[in-house]
Amino acid sequence: MCGIVGYVGPQEAAPILLEGLRRLEYRGYDSAGVAILNGDVLTTVKRSGKIAELAEGLEQERPKGTCGIAHTRWATHGAPNQVNAHPHLSMDEDIALVHNGIIENARALKMKLTGLGFKFRSETDTETVVHLIDHAFKLGAKTLEDAVSTALLEVEGAYGIAVISLRDPDKIVVARNGSPLLLGIGKDGEYLVGSDAAAVVAHTRDVVYLDDGDYAVLERGGYRTYHLERGAVSRAVHEITWDLSAIEKSGFEHFMLKEIFEQPNSLRDVMRGRLLEEEGNARLGGITLKDDDLLKVKRVLITACGTSWHAGLIGEYMLEELARVPVEVEYASELRYRNPVIEENTLLITISQSGETADTLAALRELKSHGMLSMGIVNAVGSSIARETDFGVYTHAGPEIGVASTKAFTSQIVSLALFALYLGRRRDTMSLADGREMVHALRQLPEHVEHILEMNDVFRELAQEYKDSKNFLYLGRGYQFPVALEGALKLKEVSYIHAEGYPAAEMKHGPIALIDEHMPVVVLAPQDPVYGKVVSTVEEVKARNGRIIGVVSGSGAELIAKVDHLIKVPQTLPWLQPVLTTVPLQLLAYHLAVLRGCDVDQPRNLAKSVTVE
Ligand code: G6P
Repeated sequence: MCGIVGYVGPQEAAPILLEGLRRLEYRGYDSAGVAILNGDVLTTVKRSGKIAELAEGLEQERPKGTCGIAHTRWATHGAPNQVNAHPHLSMDEDIALVHNGIIENARALKMKLTGLGFKFRSETDTETVVHLIDHAFKLGAKTLEDAVSTALLEVEGAYGIAVISLRDPDKIVVARNGSPLLLGIGKDGEYLVGSDAAAVVAHTRDVVYLDDGDYAVLERGGYRTYHLERGAVSRAVHEITWDLSAIEKSGFEHFMLKEIFEQPNSLRDVMRGRLLEEEGNARLGGITLKDDDLLKVKRVLITACGTSWHAGLIGEYMLEELARVPVEVEYASELRYRNPVIEENTLLITISQSGETADTLAALRELKSHGMLSMGIVNAVGSSIARETDFGVYTHAGPEIGVASTKAFTSQIVSLALFALYLGRRRDTMSLADGREMVHALRQLPEHVEHILEMNDVFRELAQEYKDSKNFLYLGRGYQFPVALEGALKLKEVSYIHAEGYPAAEMKHGPIALIDEHMPVVVLAPQDPVYGKVVSTVEEVKARNGRIIGVVSGSGAELIAKVDHLIKVPQTLPWLQPVLTTVPLQLLAYHLAVLRGCDVDQPRNLAKSVTVE
């Protein structure tokens, strides 16, 4: 959600912090700021708006110093203005703090601190923590880490924080509870902290993921990790496997476009080493469950948010069809507060690109506390959901920077397909021949996607024709219904055009009333068992003068005379077809957004990783 970066080392901090913020901007972008220590001076520069505004501020104020913290914000408490921007300062302006997450007892803390004489400048929950740290110093804490750890004992809620202070300079104290934070272990006395690896990878690939309840001290002489209750702890150093080019635009105008075009490769990566041609099966090293336990699974519950939830719906259809196991899919935000009936031998699958989405993580924790077996389908290696699930499948799509998810979604679908294949073969609901056919079809997917990407110009022209539309309807049936939902979501996210995804056959129960000559309707009609039914839906739309964009596989002969535009994608198995029908919808949304002058990579009000409820 918000992004944190911190640096202590031999170099000037400001340019390093600014660069880190630029790489984190996709996480939140309504205001930003830095605080830098230099001898007995602590300089803070904050601006509302995007990082570019802060860059200008830094250019004017040129803060010096080699130890600092920085933040890019996505507002939760208080308007996105300069006062509410982080870092927040103590009353004497000698402690600076940045924070991701939500302090749930902020009101109570504020009352207490106000009673003690502390004055608040901002409307944020964060400011309570900096005053608590100040208070801890006043009560006798000798070091910044003592003051921070004492203060945190009073804090309820989610936080990732980084703090610096003139009272104990030349160090950064960081802490995590529920909001991701990692340390970057550089060379020659250089240490960084980041809310994700993108913030530090330009300097080091060696990172330490903090656990909930951990805090750490970063100094030029080294770093130390502690747990609030257990004292000194040791945390392993991990190596990031991707490099800087993975988080740069590499000649593309936007990250979203780059990531759409990366899909042939991201699909190869998710399948690499996992397809067993001869056995007609998948090898999933992360499924560490014994066969017997897997065979005991009687029911699957999938939970996720946003685009990942759409992947979950496709997973539901696949797992039911191929592995004959009953599946339910729930929004994590709903599941966590319901009182679901938890039957024995139910497997919980949590799907998440970031691995940090607060609602998904909370639902996972809630159900795990009831003893449910859990599996993760996660993109971000080392993220909370990846670590807290019992076993899982990494999607290996590489870092996804565009706020609107694209390549992560298609990799999630393929991960679910691999799992369905694996489960189907283990449960004997798929024959060897079915398995081999599926492996063969999976192998062909990257090339099919390449073929669709070659039609990029077609989508640009299509977008030109529809760029002034106020509404869009997306219709699909069976495996294509979740694709319709995802197509509509993509369009809303990046172009701000209102769009609805609907099951094709349900259209006549409501949305049909909306159709006239101004309503573009995207109909997903690949050759699958419900193709004939979807053709009937197209006729109903046509009869009401809707403008139809048909996405077909094969010739689409029955539709040629009925649709305004025909997009042909290659044919594959019905359960893999969503990968191929999704790509045109991504490109359509992208071009519509660009033509409408929208900020494609950082759409208004959205954040890449939603780490608050
Ligand atoms: C945010 C992002 C979406 C994403 C959703 C779930 O809303 O903007 O693109 O689908 O969170 O995120 P996750 O990281 O859990 O997949």
